[in-house]
Amino acid sequence: MIGGVVAALAVACAIAGRGEQVAAPLNCMTLYPTPDLSASGDVALRPISSPFGIAVRADGRPRYHLVAEIAGLPEPRSLGNYTTYIAWGYTLAMDSAVKLGPVRNGRIDLGELDYIQFRVVISAERSAEVRARDGRLVLRGTSPSARLLAHRDLTTPVAPGALTDVRAGAPSMAGHSMATGSMSSGTWRMPPMPQRMVMMPGMAGLVPSASPYSPAASSPIARTPDVLRLRDGDTVALTASAFNTTIGGKSVTVLGYNGGIPGPRIEVPQGATISARVENRLEMPTSVHWHGIRLDNPFDGAIGLTQQPIDTEQSFTYTVRFPDAGIYWYHPHAREDLQQGLGLYGSIVVRPRDPRYYSPVNREETLMLSDVLMDDRGIIPFGSDAATHALMGRFGNTLLVNGGTQYSLDVERGAVVRFFVTNAANARIYNLSFSGAGARMKVVASDGGKFAREEWVESLVIGPSERYVVEVRFPNEGFSVLVNRVQALDHMVGAYTHEVDTLGTVTVGAHRARPSYSREFATLRVNRDVDSSIARFRGAFSRPVDHDLVLTMRTQNLPAPVANMLIGINAAIEWNDGMPMMNWLATSSEVSWVLRDPATGKENMDIDWRFGRGDIVKLRIFNDPSSSHAMAHPIHLHGQRFLVLTRDGVKNENLVWKDTAIIPAGETVELLADMSNAGRWMIHCHIAEHLTAGMMAAFTVQ
Ligand code: C2O
Ligand code: CU
Repeated sequence: MIGGVVAALAVACAIAGRGEQVAAPLNCMTLYPTPDLSASGDVALRPISSPFGIAVRADGRPRYHLVAEIAGLPEPRSLGNYTTYIAWGYTLAMDSAVKLGPVRNGRIDLGELDYIQFRVVISAERSAEVRARDGRLVLRGTSPSARLLAHRDLTTPVAPGALTDVRAGAPSMAGHSMATGSMSSGTWRMPPMPQRMVMMPGMAGLVPSASPYSPAASSPIARTPDVLRLRDGDTVALTASAFNTTIGGKSVTVLGYNGGIPGPRIEVPQGATISARVENRLEMPTSVHWHGIRLDNPFDGAIGLTQQPIDTEQSFTYTVRFPDAGIYWYHPHAREDLQQGLGLYGSIVVRPRDPRYYSPVNREETLMLSDVLMDDRGIIPFGSDAATHALMGRFGNTLLVNGGTQYSLDVERGAVVRFFVTNAANARIYNLSFSGAGARMKVVASDGGKFAREEWVESLVIGPSERYVVEVRFPNEGFSVLVNRVQALDHMVGAYTHEVDTLGTVTVGAHRARPSYSREFATLRVNRDVDSSIARFRGAFSRPVDHDLVLTMRTQNLPAPVANMLIGINAAIEWNDGMPMMNWLATSSEVSWVLRDPATGKENMDIDWRFGRGDIVKLRIFNDPSSSHAMAHPIHLHGQRFLVLTRDGVKNENLVWKDTAIIPAGETVELLADMSNAGRWMIHCHIAEHLTAGMMAAFTVQ
């Protein structure tokens, strides 16, 4: 019987992934029989194809396609007055259930389930028509997400001696006295705990091993207009500096381009080339990366690969060409955790050559999303010589749209608005929707242009550094709030709560919007131009994998209470910081994030893949769920574009050119890259702290 269970598990893991045994798979669950039966089975949690790569409900509940593999069930009649077996999906608390349908031995499609933590129960029933479970139980299992509950057992305090040993070299709360280097300032302040969460035992009084850093304001910079409409050959000046501003009613010192957050929005026509003179008035080196743009390699901003850092009071002039229509952005490529996290980012809209590229709309809006971690006194300091929050990345507790907390928009009744959305947050994946005024949303484009076809969506899922273009119609007078709705995890108790953050408000007036674009909006376009840009790659969809990459991590010298809680019980996607103290305390000196090439054993910057210009390359990325803190990573390729072909073997049904894709923990994702742009480029995780903690590799296109 044991052998049967193991064999069946291998089968489901084979449907769920690559047939490899992983210690803690997040995409398959085992079904256990009642003691008197020798049946066995398992259920694969298959991804559902979504334009965002991740299928979730507007309230953040994940959507899975369940496929069961069952063996050894006897004839139902042999167990009593039964004719069939039925599978049920239950919440963990067993307080609500859905009927998944009849099952038998073999492989059975159980359809879709959108519970975040759940059980699958199989019972023998009198008839296939029963609406609620009535007959005897035969098999049951719990979802991988239920394993998170095990963290509860680990919250016993550790002996204080164990703490002081490890932390002997750490700065005291008055970090000033221990500070080294010129960049250190201020003292550590513990980030506020989110409501409902309690601090894990043994962590009081600990501070990160790095020195604290908060910028000091320099003299104010003359602000340029918020939008710079440039033509081919134009020059733009960008100055990076520290300045004072107000966020959420508090006066804070931030970093930004040209005295604002975000920096000026750059609008250029497709095909244009501009010059950008970047001046560094920060107290640390910087550079500018033109994210997603297939520009000439020397101007990519990748320090160590394409240029020297721009030192304080120095400048560098970039030549940037824009071959593709779409939405892009710029940010530093040095200590992103701190520089981008404090406000150095701006958006780029490349206007398409074809005037009918997008549908007509009443209005266009650019939304740059970010978040900052604040307490009563302002922004929580950053690490001077290493990044704090190296486990999950820094999640802010104050959500910003275009640098502020009060995003608002006035439109007329029936208006269609095209939103260009960029996620400039260090670590947060958003699940955005408009609630009220009858708002309806469709997704039109992503990183490198339009989707093969437009789709209605209930929410917009966007990971760090991704972009999406959505069109929204507001048919009714009133208010529509822009909300981020997620299932927030509390790691210590292993449970989820529905969390809602309001990012802004759209006020819909009584007057009818003119002209009316309701007809155009109601039509879901099929984009033949996109199809034909993909056509010549289709033949390569089934080519063998050229390179594998495994995403994993390692830790060293972590404070004992933090190390004790990292037990490799993970969630596929985390929408919030579910372990705020642990995360804050872990710096990039203690945590290393790793891209590993299993073919060579090489890791991070030791990886140096070679390609020829024009190569079509299949990359297979596996996010190892059994590492001590696996989580979703937004993986970004510089200078090239790619298609996401499959997730756990499930075909992507709506293709779009991307430069960043979210890889949930436990998932295997196949990308097809168009290596069309010569030079030395990076592939890396776009969670700023993971990048600072080493999660990057290089490749050359000759
Ligand atoms: Cu926006 Cu190397 O990244
Ligand atoms: Cu990462």
